[in-house]
Amino acid sequence: MTIPYPSTQPMPTIAAVTPPSGAARPRLTFLGTGYLGATYAICFAELGYEVIGFDVDAEKIAKLAGGEVPFHEPGLDELLKRNLAAGRLRFSTDIAETAVFGDVHFICVGTPQRADGMGADLSYVEAAVTGLSQHLIRKALIVGKSTVPVGTAEWIEQLVGKHAAADLGVEVAWSPEFLQEGFAVEDVLRPNRIVVGVKTEWANGMLYASHKGVFDLAATEDREVPLVVTDFATAELVKVAANAFLATKISFINAMAEVCEVAGGDVTQLARAIGYDPRIGNRFLQAGVGFGGGCLPKDIRAFQARAQELGAGEALRFLHEVDLINLRRRSRVLQLAAELLGRRYGPAGPDLSGTRVAVLGATFKPNSDDVRDAPSLAVAAALSKAGADVHVYDPQGMDNARRERPELSYEASMEDAVRGADLVCVLTEWADFRNADPVALGELASGRRVVDGRNCLDSGLWTQAGWEYRGMGRP
Ligand SMILES: NC(=O)c1ccc[n+]([C@@H]2O[C@H](COP(=O)([O-])OP(=O)(O)OC[C@H]3O[C@@H](n4cnc5c(N)ncnc54)[C@H](O)[C@@H]3O)[C@@H](O)[C@H]2O)c1
Repeated sequence: MTIPYPSTQPMPTIAAVTPPSGAARPRLTFLGTGYLGATYAICFAELGYEVIGFDVDAEKIAKLAGGEVPFHEPGLDELLKRNLAAGRLRFSTDIAETAVFGDVHFICVGTPQRADGMGADLSYVEAAVTGLSQHLIRKALIVGKSTVPVGTAEWIEQLVGKHAAADLGVEVAWSPEFLQEGFAVEDVLRPNRIVVGVKTEWANGMLYASHKGVFDLAATEDREVPLVVTDFATAELVKVAANAFLATKISFINAMAEVCEVAGGDVTQLARAIGYDPRIGNRFLQAGVGFGGGCLPKDIRAFQARAQELGAGEALRFLHEVDLINLRRRSRVLQLAAELLGRRYGPAGPDLSGTRVAVLGATFKPNSDDVRDAPSLAVAAALSKAGADVHVYDPQGMDNARRERPELSYEASMEDAVRGADLVCVLTEWADFRNADPVALGELASGRRVVDGRNCLDSGLWTQAGWEYRGMGRP
């Protein structure tokens, strides 16, 4: 039965459903315990649900089961230990155990960019859904949370139809995820909205029961969590549309930075001035070295690829430009480096041989250890390729950065990275770097030259301390 949604009512009347396991609240499983799935498993145990986190990565599961979060996310360690101790939370590499346990199974596996194009690689989704379906022994709801091309939920229904016993009546739903790394615990416990794509009242009821802990927490804090109940395609599109909008906003201000650079304007003041208009707003309006991470870059590419397949490629052509603006900002750091170091910038980029460069920041944003498609690390690698001796420091991302870019040198502290450097590039806006003392760092550096790739330093203070300062889109 199709229910007459979309509805943006905060709390539509939803029929109570009994979980197929017979438990009072649905038992939840999260397949894929990466940044998304592990955070969800832990936070939903904290909300009182019985949870299993499943992954094919035995090392990751062993860490989680032992009380260690395998990535950096503020506040998550304590919640993990507490909920393991309470016995509500388990981690497993056993798909049969996971399938038998759960009433609602959330698919949280990765959907990276395909190696052979811009589209999303759905092989992990396929493996997770197929493996799970084969082991189900009663009715269950499979809920997609990974970010996917529109049409994936329908395809998953077909996969389930092929691999699960037909008489079980297994259903599918979609609930996209909006958490931000660095704020993930708060975003999961107190989301600014929940979106569900469903086809039946039963699926809607099960999803409501699976999120009741979130609604109850909100009620105790006198808040409401808006619930948008819609169809599969809209639910899938909400996520990629949101990311496309955010990426566009960042690239818009970075395009303004490019114009400021040739016109002699200051993009930081421009952003502040336009941001006062509430229709524009000042969030995601900081010019800098651009966006990265495991979501925005691959999501805008996959969105274009899917739109092209569906015959709406024209509608998203602007996202190609958004991507190009974003990538151009990385080259801009190299231009500024060449300028400060007095090197020519030729058709193949600058020759920076014989220079030592400190790169502060390896993660794609502060308060995370995620270096996936991080602009900072990409720029560090480009500086190294141009001949510079690059020394990187990041408060949390060192292990991941070392794995990703073993050719770079890594230092144990900001001071060690800066010692002897001819140029310092601040490429991730960690508080440690924003609040660094330019006088003390000036004593360590060989040359007081700084590129502020995030416009996060106090240019006046740095200039007073004798540094030659270059920001992004600033005179
Ligand atoms: N990280 C974020 O901030 C965020 C936010 C919103 C949405 N998303 C989306 O969520 C999805 C997951 O992202 P992530 O950052 O957590 O990725 P991740 O790479 O950190 O985690 C993915 C996990 O899936 C596991 N996996 C792979 N194949 C599996 C299988 N067959 N069965 C079970 N587990 C399997 C991997 O071992 C890994 O632990 C992506 O689609 C992403 O776009 C991520």
